Amino acid sequence: YIYKEATDASAAVAQEIASLIREKQSQNKKCVLGLATGSTPLGVYKELVKLHKEEGLSFENVVSFNLDEYFPMDPSSSHSYHHFMHKNLFDHVDVLPENIHIPAGNISLDQVHDFCLDYEEKIKSAGGIDLQLLGIGRTGHIGFNEPGARSNSHTRIIVLDTLTRRDASNSFNGIHNVPQRAITMGVGTIMSAKKVILMALGENKANIIKKAVEGNVTPLLPASFLQNHPNARFIIDSAAASDL
Ligand code: GLP
Repeated sequence: YIYKEATDASAAVAQEIASLIREKQSQNKKCVLGLATGSTPLGVYKELVKLHKEEGLSFENVVSFNLDEYFPMDPSSSHSYHHFMHKNLFDHVDVLPENIHIPAGNISLDQVHDFCLDYEEKIKSAGGIDLQLLGIGRTGHIGFNEPGARSNSHTRIIVLDTLTRRDASNSFNGIHNVPQRAITMGVGTIMSAKKVILMALGENKANIIKKAVEGNVTPLLPASFLQNHPNARFIIDSAAASDL
């Protein structure tokens, strides 16, 4: 799905999320959202905040699971995805704090295994993810599932690709400050979502979008696994579509 302007793509995704939240509300059900960080979903979050303030869209029935977090990472750090999500969405809507889930970057290494099993368990007991929002890294990663990730992988700790760390280096004031690892939902976790929307905006995503959409399905490009998902869409702007 190609939109001329990035703002139109973001508005369309926000509208779709809002309709799902409202639909679940009318059925007295929770709406389980898988959420992403990075610059790409910022417009969606801005629009959702606007819908909350101007149209009274409530997030009281929303249960959220974020894709990933750097490791190690203190949640109070301005570099954390905890900080990002609160600053750009959670602080401005009426989501219940107990319904927010983000992988913990501040646990010890020997707690990670149990934490990851528990994260998967929580997703399952919430009834699974209704809608998973994704960005895409220039390595083709979804969440932090870097090239080599298996299609059945679950929440775990991974080593970040150098290109990913280089892309993050500006906001960390240098690549040496970017953590080497992260905790991420797996490809299998993402593939279990009932609906997936991958967003890509801008010309620097054009090459990886072409490979993910038109290339082979391969662990060398984890986003390509979405070709096998029964309800996944890529919502991109014309710049990200320029190599298709
Ligand atoms: C990080 C996140 C991904 C995101 C990617 C792209 O690596 N873990 O979830 O998709 O960045 O970021 P951006 O949207 O800023 O291009």
